[in-house]
Amino acid sequence: MTAVVHQHGPTGPNSAVPLVLLHGFPLDARMWDDVIVELPAVPVLAVDLPGFGAAVDSAEPEGATLESFADAVAFALAQEQVRGAVIAGLSMGGYVAMALAERHPELFAGIALLDTKASADGVEARAARLAVARSALEEAGAGAVAPMVETLLGPSSTTGRPEVLEQVRTWLSQAPPAGIAAAQRAMASRPDRLDALALDVPALVLRGAEDGLATVQDHEQMAAALKVEVTTVPAVGHLSAVEDPASVAAALADLHQRAM
Ligand code: MLT
Repeated sequence: MTAVVHQHGPTGPNSAVPLVLLHGFPLDARMWDDVIVELPAVPVLAVDLPGFGAAVDSAEPEGATLESFADAVAFALAQEQVRGAVIAGLSMGGYVAMALAERHPELFAGIALLDTKASADGVEARAARLAVARSALEEAGAGAVAPMVETLLGPSSTTGRPEVLEQVRTWLSQAPPAGIAAAQRAMASRPDRLDALALDVPALVLRGAEDGLATVQDHEQMAAALKVEVTTVPAVGHLSAVEDPASVAAALADLHQRAM
C-alpha cells in the first residue's frame, strides 16, 4: 500500500519543515491546488492517499485501515528524507493525520485538522459506509459517492460558487471504486483518537462555518486537546480548502510560520 507525494514550492535546506497536505474522501491531492497557489514561499508535499490520484493502483479494498494509510504516508515521507513536518489533514485526511500522530508522533512539527473529528463512527454511520463500499465495488462505481456533493459543500457554495460545485461534481465522478471501498472500510473501523492529540506542537483546528458533517463540538474537542481555539471560516462547508482556498492558505501559512 503506497502513498504518492507531490512536491511544490521551495526545495533545498529551507524546506526542512515542509507542509504536508492530506486530502479528504473521495478526492485526491488536487483538492489542495488552489491552496498551494497561495503558498509560493512554503515547501509543500501534497499526498495522494492509497487508492486515490497517482496512488490509484494501491487500493486494498479488503484490508485497508487508517493505520495502514498512516504508515504509507510515513513511508512516503521517509523516502523524501522528511524528519519533521507540519501535517495538515482535511476530513479523512484528518483521520489519517490523527492515526499518524498516534503511530509516528516524532514526525510532527505542527498539526492542522480541518473539517474533521477525533471520534469514532456510531453504528448507523458505520453501516452506511459499508453499504457505500459495497455499492462502489459491485454496482454503482463512482456513482456511489455522487450524492456527496450535497453534503460536502455548504449552501453558500452550492448557490454562489457554480465553478466549485462543478469541480467537486467532476472529482466525485472520477473517484476510483476500489479506493472508495478501501477508504470507507478503513474509516468505518477507526477508533476514537482524541488521545493521539497529546502533541506539544503548534496547532490549527479549522472549521467551515457551514460544515454539515463535522460539528462545532467535534472541533472544540480537538482544539481543547491541542490547546488552541477553533478557527472558523465563514460561508464555506466541509470542503473549506476548496470553497475558500485563500483563507485556508492564510491559516496554514501562519501555522507553518509558528512551527519554524
Ligand atoms: C471526507 O470529506 O473526507 C469525508 O467526509 C470523511 C468522512 O466520510 O467521514
